[in-house]
Amino acid sequence: MPQSPIFILGIESSCDDTSAAIIKDGKILANVVANQDVHKAYGGVVPELASRAHQQNIIPVVDEAIKQSGINKEEIAAVAFTNGPGLLGSLLVGSSFAKAFSLGMDIPLIEVNHMQGHILAHFIEEKDGSKNQPNFPFLCLTVSGGHTQIVKITNYFEMEVLGETIDDAAGEAFDKVAKMLELPYPGGPILDRKAQLGNPNKFEFTHPKVPGLNYSFSGLKTSVLYFLKAELKKNENFIKENINDICASVQKTIIDILFIELKKAIKETGINEIAIAGGVSANSELRKRLASFSKDYNIYIPKFEYCTDNAAMIAITGYYKFLQNDFTEQDVAPNARMKV
Ligand code: KG4
Ligand code: ZN
Repeated sequence: MPQSPIFILGIESSCDDTSAAIIKDGKILANVVANQDVHKAYGGVVPELASRAHQQNIIPVVDEAIKQSGINKEEIAAVAFTNGPGLLGSLLVGSSFAKAFSLGMDIPLIEVNHMQGHILAHFIEEKDGSKNQPNFPFLCLTVSGGHTQIVKITNYFEMEVLGETIDDAAGEAFDKVAKMLELPYPGGPILDRKAQLGNPNKFEFTHPKVPGLNYSFSGLKTSVLYFLKAELKKNENFIKENINDICASVQKTIIDILFIELKKAIKETGINEIAIAGGVSANSELRKRLASFSKDYNIYIPKFEYCTDNAAMIAITGYYKFLQNDFTEQDVAPNARMKV
């Protein structure tokens, strides 16, 4: 075992958040995230603008993380970075920075799969020493803007996807419906807030029929679109007058769909350690619904700051890879479609 303490710098730049974090022996010291407001005007992430914003943000964000952690950069044992999946131009900024930092400081470079990072965020220890870590094996419902998966985790690195979406991700469904409702970007959290004020049983939307433990959300998106078109023909103020109920009903449908397959997976595997991860795990209704399982299962719900994209999850994954001497060469290239 390498000498303690081990400080790992984590870098995340796969989509539209630039983030840097410092972890000391698995414990969080700093987790700085710069969001990119530039996409608001376009109603979604514009890849070209995202990479430019990463380029501007990366140095100040890393600088701030090192400052907040109270360590000297010379103490960092290794730099871990997201190598995929994500937007290629965005990934290139983080990976190029990490390579340069590794070369300049003469420390190992560690590549991290973003989706594994979301899952291993459950192993981050808080500053006060508190932690709530799942026991192996556990199931994780990983729900983000680009992914919807049920994953069986056997150890830190052995992960098996039991089911996943065959089209849109759950986060994408939230965002696309929010856009139809003319809510500002990013739609998911705003739809969540409006849903809390509405009646989830007011409108009904159909569930997809997909074999196995897989998901589909593109049909829901289309049915919401046709529903809105039909209602707007009868009453042009329909959205305005019913916004909270529409949000609550769509949110309930998305979460119902997520839980039908998750319950099947629990039954099929017999595993009773259940976690959620990814941006959509910040959703208040999803968290409530999962918490209601806690009398039958051991439930793990991440802190809000570890749900959406952040570098702490990359640093913790990097830490476990460091312990295994699992390092990366300088010629590694980002992989936009990297699998779990
Ligand atoms: O993990 P993440 O930050 O980025 C990706 O790796 O995709 O997830 C972002 C997604 C977006 O689709 C966003 O709308 C969704 O997570 N999201 C939410 C909430 N907070 C973030 N969806 C529903 N309710 C929320 N509270
Ligand atoms: Zn993510």
